[in-house]
Amino acid sequence: MALLITSPFGSSSTGIVVLLLILTGLGTSSAQLSENFYNKKCPIVFKSVKSVVKSAVAKEPRIGASILRLFFHDCFVDGCDGSLLLDDTSSFRGEKTAAPNNNSVRGFEVIDAIKSKVEKICPSVVSCADILAIASRDSVVLLGGPSWNVKLGRRDSRTANFTAANTGVIPSPTSNLSNLITTFQAQGLSVKDMVALSGFFSIFQFSTSPFHN
Ligand code: HEM
Ligand SMILES: *[C@@H]1O[C@H](CO)[C@@H](O)[C@H](O)[C@H]1NC(C)=O
Ligand SMILES: *[C@@H]1O[C@H](CO)[C@@H](O)[C@H](O)[C@H]1NC(C)=O
Ligand SMILES: *[C@@H]1O[C@H](CO)[C@@H](O)[C@H](O)[C@H]1NC(C)=O
Repeated sequence: MALLITSPFGSSSTGIVVLLLILTGLGTSSAQLSENFYNKKCPIVFKSVKSVVKSAVAKEPRIGASILRLFFHDCFVDGCDGSLLLDDTSSFRGEKTAAPNNNSVRGFEVIDAIKSKVEKICPSVVSCADILAIASRDSVVLLGGPSWNVKLGRRDSRTANFTAANTGVIPSPTSNLSNLITTFQAQGLSVKDMVALSGFFSIFQFSTSPFHN
């Protein structure tokens, strides 16, 4: 995989390379994903996603970090399938209120706004999981992070799993080191990946979160 990296976080940015490898790789294991997936069916998708993310980030930079976190928390539970976006139904309890998410994940309204916009232009073509993947990339870029080509073609899940999201797959603030290593390993990520990602997200959070001023 060839990646062009321009990073504001220093020139020898192993962490950024690892982040890119993970973000580009997330959800690519099962289905065959491709950068060109919507080239024929909805070429305007990139422009549409970016314009909504751009105005959201202009209004509140933190929302960019929130969108990246949505993607990360979606992917850790049964892959990048948009399941985190689903509300509770009579047949399942969703992931939104699981401990790592309840009252802390945010940015759903941005994803909803993108979805409405894309649906108007290309009805029933683009998955919410792909929208989340593109919006995360655009958020990172708008906040001054590196860029990557998003692989597309994810299918949306029709169910979500509260229990799975709640039983330690997603790293929680109370995780100890061995918990953290286990949760990352369960996603095929190493201790080195974890350290790199955590470092990246701390910088990211520091630069965007109102809690760290
Ligand atoms: C090492 C394990 C991790 C732990 C224990 C952890 C935990 C947390 C916690 C407790 C918060 C604050 C939530 C709140 O505002 O109430 C947070 C925010 C955040 N996390 Fe993580 N996280 C981890 C890894 C990651 C990774 C790998 C990423 C990125 C891919 C990430 C992205 C973010 C972002 C962007 C925010 C800020 C969201 C916002 O301001 O809305 N985190 N995380
Ligand atoms: C989620 O947070 C709300 C509001 O604080 C609370 O009422 C609810 O019990 C929480 N849900 C879970 C499953 O912890
Ligand atoms: C939800 O996740 C739990 C814990 O990982 C698992 O035991 C259960 O089978 C899952 N439920 C469904 C419907 O996939
Ligand atoms: C980490 O937490 C788990 C429970 O969540 C516990 O079983 C384990 O002993 C803890 N490990 C350490 C090193 O504290």
